[in-house]
Amino acid sequence: MVISRKISRISPSPTLAITAKANKMKAEGVNVIGFGAGEPDFDTPVNIKESAKKAIDKGFTKYTPTSGTKELKEAIRKKFKADNGLEYSPEEILVSCGAKHSIFNVILTLCNEGDEVIVPSPYWVSYPEMIKVVGAIPVIINTTEAQNFKITSRQLSSAITPRTKLVILNSPSNPTGMVYSEDEMKGLCGVITTAGIYCLSDEIYEKLIYGGEKHISIASFGEEIKKRTVVVNGVSKAYSMTGWRIGYAAGPKEIIQAMSNLQDHSTSNPTSISQAASVEALEGVQADLQKMAVEFEKRRDYMVERINSIKGLSATKPQGAFYCFMNISRILGKAFNGKALKDSLVLADLLLSEAHVAIVPGSVFGDDNYVRLSYATSMENIVEGLNRIENFVRKIN
Ligand SMILES: Cc1ncc(COP(=O)(O)O)c(C=O)c1O
Repeated sequence: MVISRKISRISPSPTLAITAKANKMKAEGVNVIGFGAGEPDFDTPVNIKESAKKAIDKGFTKYTPTSGTKELKEAIRKKFKADNGLEYSPEEILVSCGAKHSIFNVILTLCNEGDEVIVPSPYWVSYPEMIKVVGAIPVIINTTEAQNFKITSRQLSSAITPRTKLVILNSPSNPTGMVYSEDEMKGLCGVITTAGIYCLSDEIYEKLIYGGEKHISIASFGEEIKKRTVVVNGVSKAYSMTGWRIGYAAGPKEIIQAMSNLQDHSTSNPTSISQAASVEALEGVQADLQKMAVEFEKRRDYMVERINSIKGLSATKPQGAFYCFMNISRILGKAFNGKALKDSLVLADLLLSEAHVAIVPGSVFGDDNYVRLSYATSMENIVEGLNRIENFVRKIN
């Protein structure tokens, strides 16, 4: 066998595959409405781009310390204190090449072969794959829409075994957009500290929350949980900087140091220029972020209302991120043009080829009764895309 056992365990990212197919159709001249996007459709704010240009002109183009520049770590320290009430020293912070890289570093650093890692479902597609690569075992906790796709402390407690090492929390969530309340987080925190397991808290959508909901970092509930948590965040989603590849992790020194050692021998530092730009993102004016959040909220409201007006479809209003997890259970099992809609993948495929609308099938997030629609696209596209979906659904029988 050419490919190693470790790497053979990975499936390709299905969300990227759908985007690629939609892009191919677009290149062939088809007018595709894309609801697949995992990134804001806004440009990176001008002040951030300018700071990157300045960094280049100043010759800030060489290696930096692996774990990140002093300036960026300082900006991240201040961000944690101001937004989350969390105090970290520079040694407790590691900057990486995107939050995805930070998460991979955490899993690789904490998990041995055979360790169990608890993942609430619906989940972000990469968690189970990363867990499998290191030879650990994803233990999926299923949730329902009735519980707003959030695990309860009782569910968490009963999923823990002597082999459990880590639980991954993601609030606001991709794909459901749900946000854990302070009480719900406290409940989970109690279970984690009592069981003595570790927590990876993926807070990448922290800044994209609507309707007065509040983001709470689980690490902020005291020293006990802080010692057991690695918080992951980044600039990708909040500042429309997905291509710049800057994410960061904060946690106990021993863990962060080990992650930094790993990074020493894999990527070294993340791009020097992107680090300079990220200082400006975190410390500069936040007006563009606020404008973007206002626009996302408008789109969310429209999308949810429209979906709920279409017979056979429904959606619970998400509180954050930029995704809507649309319930398709009432149309599954029916047929479109004689083709059986047997699962979310078939539906996504047919929607793309017949209605020219790109969505992501829920099966890739662990729930086949749903599909994910991203509202990180213009209002005009959202209106047109939902018109097409409505027409498509009318032809189902
Ligand atoms: C839940 C979640 N975590 C992490 C990431 C990765 O972010 P980054 O682009 O900074 O690697 C994403 C991106 O889609 C995400 O949805």
